[in-house]
Formats: sequence, C-alpha cells, structure tokens
Amino acid sequence: MHGKTVLITGGTAGLGQATAIALARQGASVVITARDEARGRAAVEAINQRANAAPVRLILLDLASFASVRGAAERFLSEHPRLDVLINNAGVFAARLEQTREGFELQFGVNHLGPFLLSHLLLPALEAAPAPRLVNVASRAHYAGRIDFDDLRGEKHPYRGWRAYARSKLANVLFTREWNRRFPGIPANCLHPGTLRTTIGNKHSPWYVSLTWSLVKPFLTSPERGAATVVYLASSSMVAGIGGRYFDPWQRERRPSPLALDDDLARRLWEVSERLMTEGGLMR
Ligand SMILES: NC(=O)c1ccc[n+]([C@@H]2O[C@H](COP(=O)([O-])OP(=O)(O)OC[C@H]3O[C@@H](n4cnc5c(N)ncnc54)[C@H](OP(=O)(O)O)[C@@H]3O)[C@@H](O)[C@H]2O)c1
Repeated sequence: MHGKTVLITGGTAGLGQATAIALARQGASVVITARDEARGRAAVEAINQRANAAPVRLILLDLASFASVRGAAERFLSEHPRLDVLINNAGVFAARLEQTREGFELQFGVNHLGPFLLSHLLLPALEAAPAPRLVNVASRAHYAGRIDFDDLRGEKHPYRGWRAYARSKLANVLFTREWNRRFPGIPANCLHPGTLRTTIGNKHSPWYVSLTWSLVKPFLTSPERGAATVVYLASSSMVAGIGGRYFDPWQRERRPSPLALDDDLARRLWEVSERLMTEGGLMR
C-alpha cells in the first residue's frame, strides 16, 4: 500500500482503529476521522505508536451533520489531490430513538446518509486515483433489514433500535450495489466484519443494553481479526476490479439478503438519498 492514500471514517475506536493500524503497517498513508478533536488526537497517537509507520493524519467529521460532512470533504480535498481507498467504517447502534442534526433517525443518518454524501463529495479525489476502491462496512444484520421510506425520521412507528440498525446496514449493501452500477471505475464492496469486541453497543443504549453488551463482549472477536476483511477489500490484488459484492469475516464472497439484491430498491434508495442531498443544496 506504499504511495496510497486511505481515508477511514471512525478511527477513534474499534474496527476503524484496527484497520488504520493494519493499513499503516502496510505502508499506506492513512487519514482517520473523529468527531471530537481530543479523542481524535489520542487515537492518532495510539495508532502511530502501534503501527510504527508513517504518521496517521486526522480530519474532524460528524456523520450526523451534513455541514460537518461537507467540511470534512472540503478539508480532505484541499489537502489530498487523490484518494485511493475510501473506507466507510464509522457507524452507530442506537437502542433508543435519536436523530441527526437534520432530523433523520440517527442510524439511517450516520450509517447511510452521511457516508452517501461523503462518498459523493470525495468523488474528484477518487477519480484522480489510478485504481480507486470503496469499502463499506455493512453487517450481517442487513439480512433482517427492510427499507421503510415513509419513516426516515423514525417517528411514525414504535422505535426498535435493532430494526433501525438492520435497515441502515441493508442500506449499506444496497448503496454498494448501486454505486458499483453507477461508478464501475471505482469498484465498491461491502462486508460483515464479525461480531466484534467494540464499544458499539455501549454508546447509544440504555444501561441494561450496555451492560448486556459488556457482559458478552469478552466472548466476541477482536477488532484486529475483524479488520482482516476490510484490509483485504482495501488492498488485495485478489479483488482488484471486483465490485458490488458482499464478503464475510473470512474474506469469502457471500450472497446478501434477497432485498439487498433488488436493483429497483437500490435505485430507489439512491434517488431518495440524492434528493435529500440536492434539496438541502448539499450535492450538485
Ligand atoms: N462491533 C460489531 O460487532 C459490528 C458488527 C458488524 C458491523 N459492524 C460495523 O462496524 C463499523 C465500526 O463499528 P465498531 O464496532 O468498530 O464500533 P465503535 O467501536 O463504536 O466505533 C465506531 C466508530 O464510528 C465513529 N462514529 C460514531 N458515530 C459517528 C458519527 N456521528 N460521525 C462520525 N463518526 C462516528 C466512532 O467515533 P466516536 O469515538 O466519536 O464515537 C468510532 O470511531 C460500524 O459501521 C458497525 O456498524 C460492527
């Protein structure tokens, strides 16, 4: 990965941090994002120490705010003419209803809409790379997902955190599929990294959900092992030029859910997401 620039969203913890260390060790020039500057700086220091490679750089990004996504993209583009690999890793699980700055249900906003906008805004840098790649961290939770377009704010039906998470992860797989159709020159793949020992179940959960997650955590897979498929899709020659696929934690291609293979649904999700961005004046 020498000479390649990789942007990983969400490098402060978990899978994103493990991926940053692995790719920095392979010689990539790594940029991570964080919502909070102090946490971001601490993460950069931790990654630099463990990777013992070229220093990792930091960009502030809050995917729950379209203005922040725009700011982060502008900052990246002003500093980097080229982006070889974009890894949309940052994500949340929220057991109770929360909303983004613009009022979308938090998991749909952070896990889908924010990355959708970021990926579009970074297109000029991706297009400037000789063999760019897009990697979207989805989840096997997508198998339980349905896209209910009538409730993107999460207010119409009784809120179920798991259902909303599954929807957002199905959106990741559909986005990957439609991206690949529209931008075949920038192959996109997505993956399930395994059930990982990270803090995802502790952050937007009531105490009993957080406690349950903490109790099962010791039995889960390490983020370092989880990073294997992300690193594979970002760097391996085995997947060069391959796109629109869904991979498991052992780097095997898997058939995603029937809904994830629905081209009409993928197109509709894209058009709805795009309309939300253009109506907000965020995209050309
Ligand atoms: N853990 C699992 O079992 C599992 C399974 C399947 C898929 N995944 C997926 O793996 C990805 C990484 O999750 P993880 O398990 O590593 O979770 P994690 O330890 O909670 O890390 C999530 C990362 O995303 C960042 N993030 C959260 N909200 C954000 C926002 N609004 N804007 C920008 N960044 C934000 C976090 O930053 P802060 O430090 O600021 O919170 C953190 O860096 C997610 O997409 C998740 O859905 C995880």
